[in-house]
Formats: sequence, C-alpha cells, structure tokens
Amino acid sequence: MSSIKESFGSKFGIIAAAAGSAIGLGNIYRFPCEAGANGGGAFFIVYLTIVLLMGLPLMLSEFIIGRRSGKNPVGAFQALAPGSKGWGIIGYLGVIGSFLIMAFYCTVAGWTIDALGKSIINYYHGLDKNAILGDFNNLMNESWQPILSEGIFVFLTAFIIIKGVTKGIEKYSKILMPILLGILIILGIKSLTLEGASEGISFFLKPDFSKITGKVLISALGQAFFSLSLGMGCLITYGSYIAKNDNLTSTAFAVCISDTLIAVLAGIVIFPAAFSFGIRPEAGNELAFVTLPMLFDQMTGGYFFCLIFFLLLTIAALTSSISLMEVPVLFLTEQMHLSRKKATIYSAIGVFVLCVLSSESLHDGTPLKLFGLNIFSLLDTLTSKFLLTICGLTTVIFVGWKLKKEHFYDEYTNSGTVNMGLRKIIYFIIKFLAPVAITVILITQFIK
Ligand code: TRP
Repeated sequence: MSSIKESFGSKFGIIAAAAGSAIGLGNIYRFPCEAGANGGGAFFIVYLTIVLLMGLPLMLSEFIIGRRSGKNPVGAFQALAPGSKGWGIIGYLGVIGSFLIMAFYCTVAGWTIDALGKSIINYYHGLDKNAILGDFNNLMNESWQPILSEGIFVFLTAFIIIKGVTKGIEKYSKILMPILLGILIILGIKSLTLEGASEGISFFLKPDFSKITGKVLISALGQAFFSLSLGMGCLITYGSYIAKNDNLTSTAFAVCISDTLIAVLAGIVIFPAAFSFGIRPEAGNELAFVTLPMLFDQMTGGYFFCLIFFLLLTIAALTSSISLMEVPVLFLTEQMHLSRKKATIYSAIGVFVLCVLSSESLHDGTPLKLFGLNIFSLLDTLTSKFLLTICGLTTVIFVGWKLKKEHFYDEYTNSGTVNMGLRKIIYFIIKFLAPVAITVILITQFIK
C-alpha cells in the first residue's frame, strides 16, 4: 500500500525542524554535565572530532535511509533490505530507544518547566547558592510537583504531534531557536566578565590530552549522538518527510553546525559562572539548574532574561521531544495501522508512566534502582552509551555495505544534480572511516 506523505514546506522548514530536534536539553543541560564530568577541554576536543567524523556521516545516512524509503525506521530498513529481516531490528531498537529517552528527557523537561514557573514569580531573586541548591534538591524529593510539570510537558508534546508534521513542527521551530542563540550570546558575555571566569574557560576549552580515556571517548560519542538526535531513527523519520530536491548534505551540515554552536555557547555560559560561584564542574544537574538562576540574578534585567531563557529552553525541549515521540507514533500508524491520534495518546501515556518512575527514582533512599543506578540514570546510560552508539554504528554499516551504491549516490546527489564531486569521499567515510572509529570507541569501553 503506498501512501502520500506530507513533506516539509520549505528548505528552511527542514533545517528548522531537524535543528529543532537536535537543539534541546542535550545542549544546555546534558553537554555541560558530560563535559564537566569528563575533564572539560579533553572532552571538548574529542566531542568536536566525533561530530565531524562520525556525527555528520551518520546524520547523512539517516536522512538517506528516510528519504529513499519514505518510511518510519522499522519500515525503512525492511523496505531497503527486502528479505533480510535482521536489519529491521535497528528500526525496532530505535522505536524502543526513543521511547526510553523520552521518559528520561521529560524528567529534565519537568525541572525546566518548574524553573520557568519560578522565574515568572521572580522566586530566585536574592537567593544565594545554598538556597537555590536546597530548593532544587527539594524538588527532586517532592512527589507531586515534578509529576505535574512532567504531565504538562508530555501533554504539550502530544498536542503538537496530533496537529501533524508541517503544521505542527515547522511552525513552532522556525523563529524561536535564533532567539535562544541571541540570549546565550548575551549570557556568555555576562558570564565571561564575572570574577574567576577565566578558570572556567580554561577548564572548558584548554585540552589536556593526557585526560583522554576510554570513558571520555564513549561519553563524548554518546553525547554527540544524543545532541545531534542520531541513532534512534529520529532523523530517518524526518528524512522521510524531506522533498526529493532538497540537498541532504547542506541540511546535515547546517544542523550539525547550529547544534554544536549552541552546545559550545552553553559551555561558555555555564563553566565561567560555575567556577565563579564555586560550583564544581562535576556537579551534574546543578550546573544548569543552580548556576543559571544565580547568573541571571547578577544581571541587569535578570528577571526578564531568566523568564525568556527558561521559556525558550522549554520550547527547545519541546521541539526535541516531538521528534522523539514522532518515532513511536509513526511506527504505530504505519506498521500497526493505528490512527495518528490513537498512536499519540498511547505513546504519551506510556512515556508519562515511565517518566514518573524515573523522577520518583530520584528521591533520597529510593528503592527504584537497578544495577546500582536509579531509573533516571539507568535510562540515560542505557540509551546514550549503548543503544545510540550501537544503532548508530549499524546504521552507517547499513548504508555503506547493504544499501546499493547507486541508491546512495542517487540520494546523495539528488539524482546527479548536486555534490557530484564529493560523493566518493563521503561514501568512503560512511563505509570505512565512521564504522571503524565508532567500533574502536565501543571496544575501548568494553576493554576497560
Ligand atoms: N537531541 C536532543 C537534545 O539535544 C534530544 C533528542 C531528540 C534525541 N531526538 C533524539 C536524542 C534522538 C537521541 C536520539 O536535546
């Protein structure tokens, strides 16, 4: 059965939607956490290398699979490798993985909504570090407040999804991300002028190559794929909406550059301020949720900036979560023949239940633990260190070794109209370089 699918309305629409998927809590919350826990500069240099050599080729591969097949991740692998059932597993892992990431993601999005609420009432004004920290720890231990903000977030995601792709996603992503970028630049300037800022900057940007370990490599790989929305079929799903005459390479480039720019800016905002306020770089959640309110409180117009910032961060998180939820929804509609509405409602309920478990597992002395990790950390580790990297690896292998070379060239060059000169180099990177590099990092982790 063939179905006519919606396409994104314009070139800028795809970039906005894919960048909207990529830019989110991963950049502003998770990137500083990972960089802080993995030695700062050492992590940063590895991260950039991975984005270029593995992230970009994988993004292109996902777009190609999506556009060539015009299907959800499960249907896509089945359509492009008919008869060999095994490849469909990558698609299934993507559907399950997106669902698991959503649950963890909504927990952090819940904190963001909470911070938004507090900035509206100017709650942070005049509070010192210990007060904000105490407040954040209380939030972790509360039962109902996190559930309420998570509920709001899951509801908003489902609402946008039900409204459909072009009308929903495109409309909301277009104007807002550039504003977020603007605010980050202003924040960065403020942060750099704080006392003790230079220590934070040299921690974040000065590479100490002796600190590059297996742990740093795998964390950077997981973070790069997480931040670029790779390895979970998200961009296969978006690829299936891209029109035939759009240039996939320039789209992928634009998305990688804007995502990386926002992450780097987040680092430039957070580390100088954290060092100046006496927050350790390994502090984790505190880096974003305590440092930022403190930074705003020191600024002229801080109330206004704080409010707009958390509002935009919530929206950035929404444009990412709709891309995550779109994966199970498209799977349920195309493979299980549910209506879009039903598929969204079922996915939202499932995500919400798991998200509540994840946030409740953060209470002090929680019994909600497995393998020594609470459910929140378990979902994060399982998806970013295992599922994303393994699915990412198998996806580049699929495009390099299973997909017909002519089909790759056809998609990559838009049937011979663009990028003819580059096609062999890119094909080489996808076929050899990226799979070998990802495998080496995965092995380093297991040896350790
Ligand atoms: N990239 C998003 C962020 O940085 C999160 C996200 C959206 C994601 N879709 C994904 C992560 C797919 C992994 C896989 O916030």
